[in-house]
Amino acid sequence: MKPPQQLHIPVLFDTTMSILAPVASEKYLDLTAGYGGHAREIISRIGGAQNATLVDRDENAIRELSNQCGFANARFLHSDFLAAAEKLRTENQKFDMILMDLGVSSPQIDKAERGFSFQKEAALDMRMDESQELSAYQVVNQTSEKKLSEYLFKFGDESPKMARKIAHSIVLNRPIKTTKELANVVIKVSPKRGKIHPATRTFQAVRIIVNDELRQIRETLPLALELLNSGGRIAVISFHSLEDVIVKNYFQEQSRAGYEATIKLLNKKPLTSDQNELVYNPRARSAKLRAAVKI
Ligand SMILES: C[S@@+](CC[C@H](N)C(=O)[O-])C[C@H]1O[C@@H](n2cnc3c(N)ncnc32)[C@H](O)[C@@H]1O
Repeated sequence: MKPPQQLHIPVLFDTTMSILAPVASEKYLDLTAGYGGHAREIISRIGGAQNATLVDRDENAIRELSNQCGFANARFLHSDFLAAAEKLRTENQKFDMILMDLGVSSPQIDKAERGFSFQKEAALDMRMDESQELSAYQVVNQTSEKKLSEYLFKFGDESPKMARKIAHSIVLNRPIKTTKELANVVIKVSPKRGKIHPATRTFQAVRIIVNDELRQIRETLPLALELLNSGGRIAVISFHSLEDVIVKNYFQEQSRAGYEATIKLLNKKPLTSDQNELVYNPRARSAKLRAAVKI
């Protein structure tokens, strides 16, 4: 089913619904509520927003969501999901469904001034939470060449040689103030690479560092499992291999722990989008959904 016209088209929509299988009166925690594409349907299936907790570290998303009809009775948390999960655990909250639809939303990428896209000229920013201090400007201009090279290798999947080359070029051209300036510095030292823009990996690495993305996922997953009721379902949608491998390894470890296992996997292989979805939402191309049920 194609969802209606919206700011952000939810990926793997039907798959998420059949995996989470919401039923009336269940409690729902959306740790990446965004623009509510998944949440809207789940809330309608559980019979109202009073049983929904919606988290996002982007205040624009929370503001937009809380103004939409159908969400008024939900609990909103403007917070990163690690802090939100810690808070909910302290409150002894339990849920029947948890969704983590990782990465950025379309409005974050499309709004040039957020600085996520190398195709749009803007100040280097990339903060999902605009109240946070650390921005891409600081990462790009205040990190040592050695550390930058390490980031590009570890979080941008660049080869060690390319990582060193790009880091060196960045340091030579500092201060770098805008997205296009950064992209051009990378292009200058990069070989042509087919369809992928040479700055893609650098932007990925910087974004991961600015938002501390991988630690957030790594440390939230165990808390998320604690927050689930027995029989509760968790679905995590990731958009690149660095995210997916964390989810995959953690779910495997927890499901293969013999008598100590805390979850059962709902899918052995990650679920991905079909051709039909890719036609109207090319962003779904790299999406992978892994899900489990709490024992
Ligand atoms: C792919 S969008 C979610 C879209 C949503 N499922 C929908 O259909 O509208 C990802 C959202 O997660 C938020 N996000 C990413 N990492 C986060 C984190 N560590 N803590 C809280 N929110 C996060 C982003 O700000 C963004 O709004």
